[in-house]
Amino acid sequence: MQLKDKIAFITGGSRGIGRAISLAVALEGATVIINYLRKKSAAEEFEEELKANGCSYKFIKGNIEDEAEIDRICAEISDEFGRIDIFVSNAVFGVVKPVSEIKRKFWEKTVNTNVSSVLTITQKMTSMPDFNGGSIIALTSLGGRRVIKDYSIIGSSKAALESMVRYIAAEFGPAGIRANAISPGVVDTEALDFFPDKDDMIKTTLDRTPLGKLTTPEDVADLAVFLCSDKSKMITGEVINIDGGYSNSG
Ligand SMILES: NC(=O)c1ccc[n+]([C@@H]2O[C@H](COP(=O)([O-])OP(=O)(O)OC[C@H]3O[C@@H](n4cnc5c(N)ncnc54)[C@H](OP(=O)(O)O)[C@@H]3O)[C@@H](O)[C@H]2O)c1
Repeated sequence: MQLKDKIAFITGGSRGIGRAISLAVALEGATVIINYLRKKSAAEEFEEELKANGCSYKFIKGNIEDEAEIDRICAEISDEFGRIDIFVSNAVFGVVKPVSEIKRKFWEKTVNTNVSSVLTITQKMTSMPDFNGGSIIALTSLGGRRVIKDYSIIGSSKAALESMVRYIAAEFGPAGIRANAISPGVVDTEALDFFPDKDDMIKTTLDRTPLGKLTTPEDVADLAVFLCSDKSKMITGEVINIDGGYSNSG
């Protein structure tokens, strides 16, 4: 068990990639605190799996777009556990449209959910009473560095997120925090349903992926466990692609 006695907090942790990370971290011995927002049924179904595996867990419903909600969530964690050792920023919001069609309120919602939440949760994590260093992981995507059709505001928010990870790594390294970003290739979760050209996107990805398969949530979770564990103790401030070679080809 690589993460025994660790306290892990995962935003958007009840379905998709977040669910796989929550389960993997819990199976490695951590107590996992799973944030979700709307899909209670996904949380309930996941709870059955955690129970069946004898995992230690807690669900906290709340909107991480909102600073007051983060205050409430972090206060609950601090009161019950005293610290967060592992923070995974996984929740995402965004609209898939070109820059010309983006309404300012959606940009603000995207930045608040995808980036500002990391700022606030990191500040809370590092000032909890039993804070003793730890690992921060942010889920990013290639669209933060390259142009993907209609990915305008999500990509821009991911660019800011990657930069923030580097600044967190630099500032909190002396306090024992490592911060890294994971950049998965296309992973077939419900998020893909927002892309009108989903089938084409999957086909193009497969054609251009040297390893010939899509990245799975479990692939991402394996990397997350590694980045939380001591086996990665000298890795910080990095953006790590996990995409079967897709980002290097073409
Ligand atoms: N799928 C891909 O191909 C891919 C590729 C590269 C990077 N990524 C990144 O990987 C991460 C996970 O992606 P995914 O595909 O698993 O996403 P997903 O299936 O759409 O799940 C998104 C999660 O975020 C939660 N969420 C959204 N807004 C929230 C808010 N305001 N407060 C709290 N939770 C909120 C949702 O909770 P509810 O269900 O309760 O609403 C859900 O659990 C994202 O950061 C994404 O950008 C994904």
